[in-house]
Amino acid sequence: MTIHIGAKPGEIAETVLMPGDPYRARWAAETFLEDATLVNEVRGMLGYTGTWRGHRVTIQGSGMGMPSLSIYVNELIRDYDAKTLIRIGSCGGMQPQVKLRDVILAMTASTLTNPSRGMFRELNFAPCADWGLLSAAHQAAAGRQVGVHVGGIYSSDVFYSERPDLDKEMVRHGILGVEMECAELYTLAARYGRRALAVLTVSDHLGTGEELPSEDRERSFGDMVEIALNAAFA
Ligand code: HPA
Repeated sequence: MTIHIGAKPGEIAETVLMPGDPYRARWAAETFLEDATLVNEVRGMLGYTGTWRGHRVTIQGSGMGMPSLSIYVNELIRDYDAKTLIRIGSCGGMQPQVKLRDVILAMTASTLTNPSRGMFRELNFAPCADWGLLSAAHQAAAGRQVGVHVGGIYSSDVFYSERPDLDKEMVRHGILGVEMECAELYTLAARYGRRALAVLTVSDHLGTGEELPSEDRERSFGDMVEIALNAAFA
């Protein structure tokens, strides 16, 4: 047990999928895992461990934003020895070729600031995905009926941005989408020598203002979970 995770030693798998939303952790565990068991419910941040095609997997909510994700990822790595951590979440599309329901595999994550900023001081560390996971996810996505993009994303500290000028610069520099967790996940994985990737479903679009209708979300999120699971055990 840790401060934020109630699982007993051994109850967390080496491979952890991390949606922001704890209810999505429950949905993914019930939909994709066999023998899924609830291993954490501290603060309602649900975590489940089960098996997928014979491999042990934990699906643990991270909460929204980098400070929340940082707590769970630190404890999963330092106390439970998680080796592969894959964020499965939603993002806002930023480029015209990125459509609702498409999947983005985040190669890098830019930030204005993040929880590790104070530690790095003057260094602009470049958080990036694990190449083996990224490449495996790209192959897993290839056979599916879903648009896939690989490239840089933006991890923001705010959902409600007051910086249209910044959004414009990111679009100009090819940033594919915006979410709120990936950069800290990649930074912690680098610090502790673990594998990390973010597989993201485009749920809204900053350019067009479109949003995924809630009835479409499950099917679209399913692609993302299956891509993540295939990548983890490729
Ligand atoms: N901004 C930030 N985070 C997000 C968004 C967004 O538009 N959509 C999904 N996560």
